[in-house]
Amino acid sequence: MAKEKRHMKGRVKPGDVTQRVGVEQIEARGVNVKQLREKLIDAAGAEFTTYYYYTILRMHLAGHEDYKEICEDARLEDRAHFELITPRIYELGGGLPRDIREFADRASCLDAYLPENPTATSILQILLEAERCAIRTWNEICDLTFGKDPRTYDMASRILQEETEHEAWFIELLSKERDGEIRPSGHFRRGEPGEAPYSKNRQFYNP
Ligand SMILES: [Fe+2]
Ligand SMILES: [Fe+2]
Repeated sequence: MAKEKRHMKGRVKPGDVTQRVGVEQIEARGVNVKQLREKLIDAAGAEFTTYYYYTILRMHLAGHEDYKEICEDARLEDRAHFELITPRIYELGGGLPRDIREFADRASCLDAYLPENPTATSILQILLEAERCAIRTWNEICDLTFGKDPRTYDMASRILQEETEHEAWFIELLSKERDGEIRPSGHFRRGEPGEAPYSKNRQFYNP
C-alpha cells in the first residue's frame, strides 16, 4: 500500500486546531472569508429580525385568515433560514454578536415595522419589500460563493428559492387586495405552516 496519499497533508499542520482546512480551501478558490462571514451575520440578523416583525404583522392581519396563513409560512421559514445559516458562520470562524441589539442593528434589511395605519394593503406591502430585500441579500451570497464554496452556496441557494416564492406570494396577495388584479404566484400554500421545503435543517442532518 502506498505510504503517501494525495490529500493526506496540506498547509494546516496535523493536529492544529487554530486553523481550518474548510476555510483554507475556499480561500484558495478565491472566497474572501472575512467579508463572507460579515455578510452572513448581517443576513442572519435580517432573518432573525424579520421573524420577529412578521409575528406582529401576522397578528394585525386578523380577519384575513388566508393572508395570516401565508404570512405565517414566511415567518417560520425565516426562522428556518436563521437556523440554517448560523452554524455556517461558526464553521467559517465567526460568531453571532454577543448583544442582540448589535445583531438587530446590523441586519441587512430594514426593520419590517407595523405600519402607522395597519391595513391588509399596507401590511402586505411591508411583507413584499422585506422579501425583496431578502432576495437581493441571498443572491449576493450566491454570487460570492458560486463555484468556490459549495456549502455556503448550497445553503444560500436553498434560502433564495424560498425567498423567491415568498415574493411571488405577496405580489399575488397585494395585487388582489390593493389593485383588484390577479397576478398568480404559481404555487399554493405550504402543506404545514413554515414547512421550509428547501431550507429546513432536518433535511440536512439525518443522523
Ligand atoms: Fe428568509
Ligand atoms: Fe422570506
